[in-house]
Amino acid sequence: MDSTGKKYFIAGSAGQLGGDFARILAARGLAVVAPAEDEFDITDSARVSAVLAAEKPAVLINCAAYNQVDEAESQADAAFLVNATAVASLAETCRDLGIFLVHFSSAYVFDGTKDNFYTEDDPPQPLNTYGASKLQGEQAVAQHLEQMSLVFRLSWVFGPGKQNFLTKVSRWVADNAVIRVSADETSAPTFTEDVVDLTMESLAKGLTGLYHLTNSGYCSRYEWAKYFINKMELDTLVIPVAAATFTTKAKRPAFSCMSNRKLSDALGRPIPSWEDAVERFVLAFETAG
Ligand SMILES: NC(=O)c1ccc[n+]([C@@H]2O[C@H](COP(=O)([O-])OP(=O)(O)OC[C@H]3O[C@@H](n4cnc5c(N)ncnc54)[C@H](OP(=O)(O)O)[C@@H]3O)[C@@H](O)[C@H]2O)c1
Repeated sequence: MDSTGKKYFIAGSAGQLGGDFARILAARGLAVVAPAEDEFDITDSARVSAVLAAEKPAVLINCAAYNQVDEAESQADAAFLVNATAVASLAETCRDLGIFLVHFSSAYVFDGTKDNFYTEDDPPQPLNTYGASKLQGEQAVAQHLEQMSLVFRLSWVFGPGKQNFLTKVSRWVADNAVIRVSADETSAPTFTEDVVDLTMESLAKGLTGLYHLTNSGYCSRYEWAKYFINKMELDTLVIPVAAATFTTKAKRPAFSCMSNRKLSDALGRPIPSWEDAVERFVLAFETAG
């Protein structure tokens, strides 16, 4: 346990980001509670209040989310329930119990029409239901917990787990000598381990409010896949195609690159590039087999 004895409570610990928070904080000797979803369903507000009142964590790190961007178009109620209504209720409970809330939002709150990096001052304009639900959630946190919260907008998150883009690429290359990947969707891949590091540094520095948290730089999905395949020493051919080649239910912003300058300046250090992050991911991926 750390010298302060601060307790960290992780919601959504079965997900890729929540799993890394639970693993890394425990490895650092911090006091962590990371219940399974059936023990801490964030939509069950009565149980959430009772569990948090009993556990009395100093910090609640909410990694739980309805994260299926395409399915959200036909399941808007479910997306808004988890990403907005439950988050508002979590924020109210944290306010009542004096718990600091860390919450994660998404670059998909933007419509992708800006011709430069998005900053925290740019007006959000979501294109899809998932983005709209995430925007409502971050607004609820700001409304209920102005000085007792941190909201980080993330983009293209990758880490342990089966659902992120790189693990999908690794499945595609296992079955195909040639793969096609969109070259006209651009963002900043963001590694879960860096999200954990930057979150913990932000808490230690006493930061509050809204920040864009991404690895530095930007790329297309095509460049991201190619870089990964190259680092995996595979010879799969990657062909750049238009995103419109693939039919998806949700519209996605063509350009969702956010500037991480505000966070980098506040922490007084550069944030690793996405290429550096992919290399660390590949090492971990190969070690895990
Ligand atoms: N993944 C990305 O590319 C991306 C990009 C930008 C922002 N973000 C944000 O980053 C955060 C972490 O995302 P992630 O990639 O780690 O997502 P993830 O792997 O999908 O993890 C989310 C977890 O929350 C769980 N969950 C869903 N509903 C819940 C509920 N009612 N109560 C408790 N847990 C619930 C999910 O369980 P089930 O799997 O059983 O539903 C899943 O284990 C989220 O806020 C997400 O919106 C992600």
